[in-house]
Amino acid sequence: MESLKKKIQVEGIVLSSEVLKVDSFLNHQMDPSLMKQIGEEFAKRFRGENVTKIVTVESSGIGPALMTAYEMNVPLIFARKRKSLTLKNDVYTAKVFSFTKQEETEISISQKFISEHDRILMIDDFLANGQAALGLIEIIRQARAHLVGVGIVIEKAFQAGGEQLRRRGIRVESLVRVQSLKDGKVTFLEEVTA
Ligand code: G4P
Ligand code: NA
Ligand code: NA
Repeated sequence: MESLKKKIQVEGIVLSSEVLKVDSFLNHQMDPSLMKQIGEEFAKRFRGENVTKIVTVESSGIGPALMTAYEMNVPLIFARKRKSLTLKNDVYTAKVFSFTKQEETEISISQKFISEHDRILMIDDFLANGQAALGLIEIIRQARAHLVGVGIVIEKAFQAGGEQLRRRGIRVESLVRVQSLKDGKVTFLEEVTA
């Protein structure tokens, strides 16, 4: 997605060879017209898959996931990271280990919002080691729902997540794939399109 690549080139800040900061349009301040384009692009790629629900994890996944849900005319459910007063028993939960933060968190989704009849599209802002995605996959498995695929705004292709998910036969659609963040520079993996 060229407009997204351009935005990353102009506004992205390479914090280290592993971390890209995009807080001016995605992770803190959000650019609604870019989010709308992102939603349209995911909707286009997964059109025909009969998606019934979008899922993501709070908080940074919500922007792109909501725009996708709007385009596909289906609800969005975001997994919660904190224990909520009103979210107690009837929940599916999974543990997610964050390499970045070196800590484990628990994510949960109320059982009433996903069922075996659902065809789920997972959307997230970043794909790094894939731990958040694996947590959501575990929740989808518990609900006996069907995972149609995973839509990622920025995949860091030099980390293991994308490879791991694809090896499991999961369809992963990333709008941009970053090959490297070396020398303070963002290099994209150029897609060979069939
Ligand atoms: P993983 O799920 O792919 O294994 O990711 P990891 O544990 O490495 O990342 C933890 C958090 O950091 C996630 O957000 C993830 O989206 C984010 N993240 C990973 N790599 C980058 C990066 O290069 N740049 C930025 N800006 N974020 C990155 P989170 O803490 O779960 O939540 P939230 O920010 O959505 O609230
Ligand atoms: Na995220
Ligand atoms: Na994040």
